[in-house]
Amino acid sequence: MESIDYESRLKELEKTVRILKKKLERSEADRQQLENASEVREAVLKNVIRELETSQTALEIRTQELENTLINLKALQLKLVESEKMSALGVLVAGIAHEINNPVSFIYGNLNYASDYFQDLLDLVELYQHYYTEPVDEIEQKIQAIELGFLKVDSAKLFQSMMIGAERICEIVKSLRTFSRLDEAEFKSVDIHDGIDSTLVILNNRLKPSPDNPYGIQITRNYGNLPLIECYAGQLNQVFMNILANAIDALEEQVTKYKQTDNLDLTLPQIDICTQVIDDDWVEIIIADNGVGIDEQVKQKLFDPFFTTKEVGKGTGLGLSISYRILVELHGGKLECYSPPGSGARFIIKIPIKQSKS
Ligand SMILES: Nc1ncnc2c1ncn2[C@@H]1O[C@H](COP(=O)(O)OP(=O)(O)OP(=O)(O)O)[C@@H](O)[C@H]1O
Ligand SMILES: [Mg+2]
Repeated sequence: MESIDYESRLKELEKTVRILKKKLERSEADRQQLENASEVREAVLKNVIRELETSQTALEIRTQELENTLINLKALQLKLVESEKMSALGVLVAGIAHEINNPVSFIYGNLNYASDYFQDLLDLVELYQHYYTEPVDEIEQKIQAIELGFLKVDSAKLFQSMMIGAERICEIVKSLRTFSRLDEAEFKSVDIHDGIDSTLVILNNRLKPSPDNPYGIQITRNYGNLPLIECYAGQLNQVFMNILANAIDALEEQVTKYKQTDNLDLTLPQIDICTQVIDDDWVEIIIADNGVGIDEQVKQKLFDPFFTTKEVGKGTGLGLSISYRILVELHGGKLECYSPPGSGARFIIKIPIKQSKS
């Protein structure tokens, strides 16, 4: 009895073992499946990560490329603005100068004749008056009407001032031609004092006393004995124009400040221009003003394109960056700026007398 019991118990146990074994096999299969699935998932994940890393690197390269393109575009834009500004201005100036030159030559050339003819006629009238001391009424009335006495005196003054005016136009036209010097697309040996002087003639309107600046701007020239300088004269004149125009702006700002503030001493607005030969083969041109000066923060960005402290519409912020390029890149020269607090600004241009490239 006991052995039967034992046997059935054994069978039962065997059955349980079988069931357990099956269950174990099944769970082993499940585990295997799970493992496989997670391996697949891991592989997929690794792939995704690898792809992400690749695309991140590609993105970084692309960003760098874009940044480079942006820098190139900015440089290109600057060059375009510069050449646009230069050539448009140069063409316009040269065109106007050319167009004015002929008619003003007629006027200037004929004024002397006109003055002589007029004087001859006056002499003739005097001769008539000498021999016909008692003219008829009609002539007497005409003499009164045209105020002959005044006419004689005033006409001389009139011709004189027309002569001065015509001379001035000729001088301006000549300066405009010197200034634009479009023809010179290569290094030429020029007298840079001519360039500075013609720039000052063009700027004359801003140097004279005006309601805003009743003191005007005094220019002192200390020109050294310079040889001819090999340069792009038109472009160099552009540099003089930019630096002088900035100095005038700074002096006008100083006068405005003086007007707005009580108990501020005004030293009369002045620009000093000094030239000299340095180290035998270089020349130095110093343009110094006693205007508002440049503080340290502004100085850091002085030559950056588009940096300006002037109000919208007044400054583009390109003057000095273009000047820097013209001097440094085109002429192998230097442009430095000094502005000790409270004593205006001093720009120092240095250029080689001869260009080694040419
Ligand atoms: N002589 C100076 N005195 C005081 N500040 C100056 C002088 N020259 C230049 N600056 C300062 O440097 C800045 C940059 O000058 P830059 O000539 O490049 O541009 P801008 O004069 O502002 O504009 P743009 O010349 O294009 O009309 C000016 O805005 C001004 O703040
Ligand atoms: Mg400027």
